[in-house]
Amino acid sequence: MAEKKAFVTGHPIAHSRSPKIHGHWLAKYGIDGSYEAIDVAPENFAAFLKSLGANGYRGGNVTIPHKEAAFALVERRDTAAEAIGAVNTLWFEDGVLWGGNTDGLGFAGNLDDYAPGWAANGPAVVLGAGGASRAVIHALKQRRVNDIRIVNRTLQRAQELADRFGAGVSAHGAGAVGELLSDAGLLINTTALGMHGDETLAADPAGLPGHAIVTDIVYVPLETPLLAAARARGLKTVDGLGMLLHQAVPGFERWFGKRPEVTPELRRMIVADI
Ligand code: ATR
Repeated sequence: MAEKKAFVTGHPIAHSRSPKIHGHWLAKYGIDGSYEAIDVAPENFAAFLKSLGANGYRGGNVTIPHKEAAFALVERRDTAAEAIGAVNTLWFEDGVLWGGNTDGLGFAGNLDDYAPGWAANGPAVVLGAGGASRAVIHALKQRRVNDIRIVNRTLQRAQELADRFGAGVSAHGAGAVGELLSDAGLLINTTALGMHGDETLAADPAGLPGHAIVTDIVYVPLETPLLAAARARGLKTVDGLGMLLHQAVPGFERWFGKRPEVTPELRRMIVADI
């Protein structure tokens, strides 16, 4: 049988760690397959999608800036993609191009590994109201967290998400964060703040109760200023790398027919690369 082919596309794409993750699994499970990074400019994305079947691809991942375009262009979408409004995973089923979103599963899978029982720890405060925030809120709702407080610099974007996700999700401006944290059991940063380690904190974890869990979807650096401050305060912290690893699992299973494992060995390999 022909080699099984998959890809990740974005623009730019050179920084993507997905080829390392999938390459590791392909070798580990002895699968005759490939996973390549393909840089596609936005104006060429629709044509790229149309050519996938003819080029022998079983599917692939989609990242910035194509997640919303993929959502609009696929023939069918899974329920997570519908809820999040973006597609990060493509595959063919009976010749039909499907788009799914595994970012919420990645978020939840990471917390399941490092903070089992986390979903019972609500209320949750979510910093940010972009695409990543939508995936996190979807995961929180799936896990029945029933008090989700979105805090965003631009209140209107938070309000749009609260309206989108409905019951139990509220919107707040940045000024309200201190009060919102005082009885929260989960604090999740979905903004790029802290990515370069030089910005001031968006929220002070000192205001959280002692049982709170703090997590960041940023994983460069692995310990963001928010996580460092939470750890210094003695709180449980979970970095964002596991979300990247876990979001890759469903795609690999669809394209290559094997459900791969997120192991400490895989994590160490990616950490060495950060
Ligand atoms: P993504 O898809 O990665 O979530 P996005 O849609 O651009 O990216 O959203 C970025 C989020 O980070 C938003 O919540 C944004 O706040 P605004 O909605 O007010 O723009 C937030 N963000 C980015 N830079 C920020 C900064 N310097 N201070 C506060 N919030 C910031």
